[in-house]
Amino acid sequence: EQIVKGGYDHFMLKEIYEQPNAIKDTYRGRLLVKEGIIRMAGIDDNLDRFLNANRIIVVACGTSWHAGLVSEYIFEDLARIPVEVEYASEFRYRNPVITNKDVVIAISQSGETADTLAAIKLAKQHGAFVFGVCNVVGSSIAREADAGAYTHAGPEIGVASTKAFTTQITVLTLIALKLAKANGNISTSNYQYHLQELELIPEKVKKALESDKHILEVAKMYKDAKNCLYLGRGYNFPVALEGALKLKEISYIHAEGYPAAEMKHGPIALIDEQMPVFVIATKKGHYEKVVSNVQEIKARKGKIIGIVTEGDVDVKNLADHVIEVPDTLEALSPLLTTIPLQLLSYHIAVLLDKNVDQPRNLAKSVTVE
Ligand code: G6P
Repeated sequence: EQIVKGGYDHFMLKEIYEQPNAIKDTYRGRLLVKEGIIRMAGIDDNLDRFLNANRIIVVACGTSWHAGLVSEYIFEDLARIPVEVEYASEFRYRNPVITNKDVVIAISQSGETADTLAAIKLAKQHGAFVFGVCNVVGSSIAREADAGAYTHAGPEIGVASTKAFTTQITVLTLIALKLAKANGNISTSNYQYHLQELELIPEKVKKALESDKHILEVAKMYKDAKNCLYLGRGYNFPVALEGALKLKEISYIHAEGYPAAEMKHGPIALIDEQMPVFVIATKKGHYEKVVSNVQEIKARKGKIIGIVTEGDVDVKNLADHVIEVPDTLEALSPLLTTIPLQLLSYHIAVLLDKNVDQPRNLAKSVTVE
């Protein structure tokens, strides 16, 4: 088993460190920066279905649902296509309105999640076009979908999903950019800029991984917390949800993710000197607003750990600790801000002596309802 883990103590850590290559594998052959082309047969062959869609409905569970939430921002922001993101289990049971003008994107690492599979069967019955974003080749969801794109992340063994998440976001970003170009909602220069920046992401993920030692020190300081709050806005709101989920899954510490501005409608009541608050505050998108959220936390003596852009000053001045990630475009920032939160959860779980790769009560793939 040690050989399979490639010298890492756990599969989860190995998979976190595989992300630069996994993301590269995801865009290899698809992202042609010089030519200004995104090559994806599953989209090209069905372009009309996408361009004539009333909306995109994303169905997924767990971490894949969080990737879906990130994609909502990207599709709407860049391609101006309305998106709804649904828990597959809610969607399938609530008599949803689905038409043959809808495109349903099912996101699933395993391609075997029972609720997601049932949701796409229902969507197909109503005439929707179903596109699968799966990791496992030949899986049930991949076979059931009308078309799809694999993430090519390689096998993910750790129950807590890591590289599946970032590679799902990579595929969904490629799709959004391709559609934005096709429907004319993105300028050529902005499109090209996104392509160039996406190609640089693996190197920037590597850079983000270099904070590992520092993150271990931060983990030591907060491992005994009973509750943690994760905040982010815009593209990084789903990252806050995913950060909280990772901590819950493997360390069994209660954690909640929230849109930073919603904090004042509830969670702020919980903040005291015992409460670590992880705030994603990258330089783009709503930065000043997040800084003012950080001030509110500080005024209530919460412990602030900022996930910030390299060279940040404002949050650094207010926070107890900061963890830096390289600068990138806002739409791509989740691919970087996720990394320190994965490492943080990993280290806290190891320090607490939990079973990182096989947390209690959880399964890698939920094939029952
Ligand atoms: C389980 C796993 C999660 C995963 C979710 C959805 O709960 O523990 O890591 O995100 O299922 O799985 P899928 O294979 O459909 O992405």
